[in-house]
Amino acid sequence: MKPIQVGLLGIGVVGSGTFNVLKRNQEEIKRRAGRGIEITMVADLNVARAQELVGPGVMVVNDARAVIANPDIDIVIELIGGYGIAKTLVLEAIAAGKHVVTANKALLAVHGTEIFATASAKGVMVAFEAAVAGGIPIIKALREGLTANRIQWIAGIINGTTNFILSEMRDKGLDFAVVLKEAQRLGYAEADPTFDIEGVDAAHKATLMSAIAFGIPVQFDKAYIEGITKLGAADIKYAEQLGYRIKLLGIAKRREPGATNPTEGIELRVHPCLIPAKRLIANVEGAMNAVVVQGDAVGTTLYYGKGAGAEPTASAVIADLVDITRLHTADPKQRVPHLAFQPNAMSDLPVLPMGEVVTSYYLRLRVADETGVLAKVTGILADAGISIDAVLQREADEVSADAKVAQTDVIILTHDCQEARMNAAIAQMQALPSVLEPITRIRKEELA
Ligand code: HSE
Repeated sequence: MKPIQVGLLGIGVVGSGTFNVLKRNQEEIKRRAGRGIEITMVADLNVARAQELVGPGVMVVNDARAVIANPDIDIVIELIGGYGIAKTLVLEAIAAGKHVVTANKALLAVHGTEIFATASAKGVMVAFEAAVAGGIPIIKALREGLTANRIQWIAGIINGTTNFILSEMRDKGLDFAVVLKEAQRLGYAEADPTFDIEGVDAAHKATLMSAIAFGIPVQFDKAYIEGITKLGAADIKYAEQLGYRIKLLGIAKRREPGATNPTEGIELRVHPCLIPAKRLIANVEGAMNAVVVQGDAVGTTLYYGKGAGAEPTASAVIADLVDITRLHTADPKQRVPHLAFQPNAMSDLPVLPMGEVVTSYYLRLRVADETGVLAKVTGILADAGISIDAVLQREADEVSADAKVAQTDVIILTHDCQEARMNAAIAQMQALPSVLEPITRIRKEELA
C-alpha cells in the first residue's frame, strides 16, 4: 500500500523533530501502523530554511493553503500555534476532508467545541496528544486506557517553565523575579513568558483534560487561573518546614454533592499549591511534567515525562499520525470520540465558580509581635467555621530597618473549607491593625 501522505504547517522545533523522528524510525513505525507515513509537503514562511531541514525530496511552499488544497495529502499537521490563522487553517483542512494533528492547546481549549463538531460532521479526526504534557501519552491514557473508570480527579504539573522556576526557587532560596531572569537567559523561559508564568498555558491543558475526563465541553473561560508571579522564597521555605512542596498544578476534580459540598459540578483550576513532600509528584523537578489521575477502579496513577522539546513532542504527534493511519478507513462511529465520550452523551455538569471550590489552605500573615494577635486571627477563623490544622510562628525575614514594631510571620494550615468562606475570613483578618502586610494565601491539596 502506498504511504499515507502528510502535510506539515510550520516547521519550527516540534515540526523538525517530527520530520526527523518519522524518518529515523520509519521502518518501525510502518510495522506498527501497517503502512508507511511520510511528510511529503511542508508550508513555512521561511522556505529556504525549511527546505534545508527536510532536504530536496519534500515539497516546501510558503502558503499553507497549498498544502490543504493538495488532493494527495491525507493528514495535515498544524504546528503554527495560537488562535488566529491556525484556527482558520484547521477549519479549512477539515472542510477539505483532511484529518488534522495539532499540538495547539490554546486553539482547542478555546475553540475545541466548534472544531470537534465540524470534524465529526465531516467524518475526519482531529488528534491532539501533543497538546497536553508533550511526550506523556496522557490523552491516550485518559481517553482509552482509563475508559472503565469514573475519574475522580486529575492534578498535573503541566507547565515545564514554571516547574523549572519553582524548582530553582526552592533549591537556591531565590525569589521569583531573580529566577525568571536566569530561566530566560538559559532558554527555559521565553522572552515573553506571560502564558507560562500566569498559568494560562497550564489552564489550556487542564481544560482539555477536564473535558476528556468528565465528558464536558471544553470551557477555558470558566477555569480559575492564578500563576506563580507572587510566590516568595519565604513561602517555599515555610512550606518545606511543614512537610510540603509548592507546585503549580492544573486541577480538574469531580465534586459530588455532600454535606460540605452543596453543589455538584467540576472544579477546574490552575494555581500554586502545597502538596505533601512525600508524594511522588512533589518530587518532579526542573522542566519535567507529571499528571496524577485518580479513577474509582484503578486508584491513583501517575504519568511522568518531558512536557516539551522537539522529540518528546514529536513522539506524541507521530503517535497521532499512527492512530489516524490505522483508523481512517474505519467507520467514523467506531473511532475513539474526540473527547472520549460520544458527542450525544456529553454531560452538562457545570464548572463551578471558584467561590464554591472546597480545598485547604496555607496562610501567611506578617503581624506585629504583640499580645493577643494570634487569638484574634484564630478567632476569626473559628467564627467562620474554618478548622486549623497547624500553626507555625517564625521570626520575620526582611523587616525594613525603620519598622516601628517587632514583626513576626504566622503561618496557618487549615482543613478543607469553601473558598468563599476563606475569602471573607481573609478580608476580616486583613482589616486587623496588627496585620501589617497583604496576607499570603496558597491552596493546599493532599492528593491522597
Ligand atoms: N511552554 C510550555 C511549558 C511548553 O513550559 O511547559 C509546551 O506546552
